[in-house]
Amino acid sequence: MSSIRDRDKKHLWHPLTQHKTHPDTLAIKRAEGAMLYDENDKAYIDGIASWYTCMYGHSHPYIIDKVKRQLGKLDHVVFSGFTHEPAVALSESLISILPDNQEKIFFSDNGSTSVDVAIKMALQYHYNRGDEQRQLILSFEDGFHGDTFGAMSVSGLSVYNGPFEAFFIEVQRIPVPHAGNIEQVKKQLAEILSAENVAAFIFEPLVQGAAAMKMHEAKYLDELLTITKAQGVVNIADEVMTGFGKAGTHFASDQLTISPDIMCMSKSLTGGISAMAITSCTQEIYDAFYDDSILKGFFHGHTYSANPLTCTAAKACIELLQSKEIQDAIQRIHRKHHEFTDSLKDHKLIKSTRVCGVICAVEVNVETGRYGNYRDKIFALFMKRGVFLRPLGNVIYILPPFVISDEQLDTIYHTILEVLEIMNTPASVEY
Ligand SMILES: Cc1ncc(COP(=O)(O)O)c(C=O)c1O
Repeated sequence: MSSIRDRDKKHLWHPLTQHKTHPDTLAIKRAEGAMLYDENDKAYIDGIASWYTCMYGHSHPYIIDKVKRQLGKLDHVVFSGFTHEPAVALSESLISILPDNQEKIFFSDNGSTSVDVAIKMALQYHYNRGDEQRQLILSFEDGFHGDTFGAMSVSGLSVYNGPFEAFFIEVQRIPVPHAGNIEQVKKQLAEILSAENVAAFIFEPLVQGAAAMKMHEAKYLDELLTITKAQGVVNIADEVMTGFGKAGTHFASDQLTISPDIMCMSKSLTGGISAMAITSCTQEIYDAFYDDSILKGFFHGHTYSANPLTCTAAKACIELLQSKEIQDAIQRIHRKHHEFTDSLKDHKLIKSTRVCGVICAVEVNVETGRYGNYRDKIFALFMKRGVFLRPLGNVIYILPPFVISDEQLDTIYHTILEVLEIMNTPASVEY
């Protein structure tokens, strides 16, 4: 029997992959805690929690036990006209940890659909209130919100969007604010708000994940949100990446003084068990849809909305998130990231570092394209040493599962430094 890796090539088309130049995939056979194991039993530390999903560790026994029990009771049922205990229990538990102004939750399937739902909710909110000329969506340059058409439109411009740009919804992008540009950004925002009919402002709060973990301060974002809120613009926080403890608080929005009107969640919502997303909103947004006319309802729905197994997994994840063990782990990882980045202050190979919650990014002092040769080489060197990280250009970031041990974290830190030294002495590079 040929290997999984060889059989893969016959029929499979992988996401974000140019198969001609990157023909090989790695077959992972099992995973546990912070570790992945390939088909030859080689172990890798999952330094990015499999795209920030498996934050409680792979195959967590508590989550698995809950899902198994639910499987024996109810697998799936239509969520239009029916309800069930796992969805109700999840709604109660999620609302209890969301910012106080969030009252209603709406299910969909993944991060991108949670964003599309948010955009449609915001547009129809204005439409239902007779303000249908509000059609423009504001977003941040360099933002990333997903790959469906709505989500792609509000993301920053990228070479990958080229074939689709003619089909985007109406969007204007502003720079992310910081101490050096806040007055300029506020001026630009005021100009757009006076010239255009702005429906919504969507942003990744505090950390822009796909932009290589770019971070901004809550106080500057708050300044923009105060302005948009005063103008009746619907503020949408995309917490698909930052949600559920990664920014140090349950949600990055908890660090803002202006709470968003709508929030998008996915990824670690279900701890990696299966895909699900939620878009939450305030009572005010919901009320604009609550009417005797059926036409004012929100006619959006996915077949697998609120799947009982996935809801059960999500509820178990929230219980874990609230546990002392996980809260302590978040503090521990945050402290260790700071010790690591403090030790890099005068490192000749490192340009800058940044930390927010359990997210740590190290920018290497080299000029390179986002998916260039340099990135591919350091990725290969990490994998050879049993560390799974996915550098974005010259930025190496760590976003580990909360259950990672100090020893595993130290291995990641040491490996990063070892790989940078190897890259700095090209003669020694061996893949
Ligand atoms: C902030 C943010 N929003 C949306 C998405 C899209 O999520 P999905 O890949 O589940 O569609 C991502 C994915 O990385 C993300 O980081």
